[in-house]
Amino acid sequence: MAEARDPSADGTAPDGPPFDGVVYQVYPRSFRDTDGDGVGDLAGMRAGLDHLASLGVGAVWSSPFFRSPMADFGYDISDHRDVDPLFGALADVDGLIADAHARGLRVWLDWVANHTSDRHPWFTASRSSREDPHRDWYVWRDPAPDGGPPNNWIRHFAPEPAWTYDDATGQYYLHHFLPEQPDVNWDDPGLREAQLDVLRFWLDRGVDGFRADAIVLIGQDRTYPDDPPGTPPDGRGWFHWHPSTRGHLAAARRVLDERGAVMIGEAFLEDVDAVLAHVGDDALHLAFTFQLLLAPWDAAEWARRIAEVDAAFAARGLWPAWVLSNHDKPRLATRVGSRARARAALCVLLTLRGVPTLYQGDELALEDAEVPTEREVDPGGRDGCRAPMPWTSEPGCGWPDPAWLPLPPDAAALSVAAQEADPASALHLTRRLIALRSSHEVLVRGAQRVLGAADGIPDGVLGFVRELGDARMVTLAEMAGRTATVPAFADGAWVVRIGSDGAAAGEGGTFDGTLPADTAVVLERA
Ligand code: GLC
Repeated sequence: MAEARDPSADGTAPDGPPFDGVVYQVYPRSFRDTDGDGVGDLAGMRAGLDHLASLGVGAVWSSPFFRSPMADFGYDISDHRDVDPLFGALADVDGLIADAHARGLRVWLDWVANHTSDRHPWFTASRSSREDPHRDWYVWRDPAPDGGPPNNWIRHFAPEPAWTYDDATGQYYLHHFLPEQPDVNWDDPGLREAQLDVLRFWLDRGVDGFRADAIVLIGQDRTYPDDPPGTPPDGRGWFHWHPSTRGHLAAARRVLDERGAVMIGEAFLEDVDAVLAHVGDDALHLAFTFQLLLAPWDAAEWARRIAEVDAAFAARGLWPAWVLSNHDKPRLATRVGSRARARAALCVLLTLRGVPTLYQGDELALEDAEVPTEREVDPGGRDGCRAPMPWTSEPGCGWPDPAWLPLPPDAAALSVAAQEADPASALHLTRRLIALRSSHEVLVRGAQRVLGAADGIPDGVLGFVRELGDARMVTLAEMAGRTATVPAFADGAWVVRIGSDGAAAGEGGTFDGTLPADTAVVLERA
């Protein structure tokens, strides 16, 4: 056991992590298109499994492909138990699961537990009358005395009320997201059981786990107090997380434990203790930690956040689940200003203690597409990071013209096919990093310590060490945009296992202490 675990913590320390591989997020609309309609599909996901297997990832998490009016591109579900015809049919999911399992890949689906589509039959019934048995499956409240919304909450994606008035029954319903995504009421036993049945339905079909969408919002303060004055409108809804969520997660956990399935939650909270409030033996197995996704590209800031998150998780015998990009935020290469930096960040992500998640295209160091106004489609302004994944170097890169969104910059040169042919590419770098992680237990189970000035780490460089028995590995990343020298690791005893700038970076040789601007190395103590 690598980590010092505090057995007195809160009883949540597991014997080992429930999953110790790398997660790969597929955004089905943009992954791979096989029927030529410009939108990715399940057959495309199946066709892309060999690519995932070649990367060496352990699980594929798919964003929603269920029946949906697509107001939020699938995060507004109108039938949890069917596939939207845009993506295929249920049989395609069965095929996907079988093909993935044949390649040793686990399949995790998105469980959207906080809301449904306003076209879901549950909501249609709920809004039909105050007496309908489904009324309390959603959150209905009387207008404020002035006839306005019941409180001052603002929804995501626009500075507008989180409540919409429904003429038919004279009440408002709550929606943390779009008006087309009414929040469900987890305190209603019928709703709760129905949502757990959604898990059972997919577990019966053979899925191995779930990513729980917006999960921290399912427990709510039923008095719906106003947000304090001065609360910034951007993203304020996440701070409505409430302790009662834990009890709901315990019910979900019992369902998962019966089948040995895993749940990783979207706990979009910067406060680490708030994230941890949702993780444990009676709650989520894992929760994404977004601290690096939200961090500026600054070595001291990354060092601080990594140390803080890791200490908090390790104290409870838990693993963080690091994520640098997803379908909601600008891609890493775009955020941090260059592909070289994105490659350096891959070295960090894939050697940190915990479960790393790659968002499709991270392995190609893709940037966001530039989406002209007339082609914008997402109400949340997230089109750029959802650009189609380029597979070939031919015109269209495997997509019809136009695809549902424009391709990312330099798509042909960055396509899977082009990078496959270039041993120095981000694609090969990602493979080498994951292979290194798989072949070096220290990178999986080793303890972790963030290095500082006392260890010889200069300003502008992020460094951390992993240790397990006699094995020691160090990751160094130059983040200040200037060549750094790190003599502390140039004593001839440190071998460069990976250099972020490609195959030519002296892999296999001893580290000479030079770290060019915007690069990273992974070193092993000889
Ligand atoms: C999560 C998803 C995001 C979606 C929202 C509402 O944040 O990642 O894409 O819009 O939940 O379901």
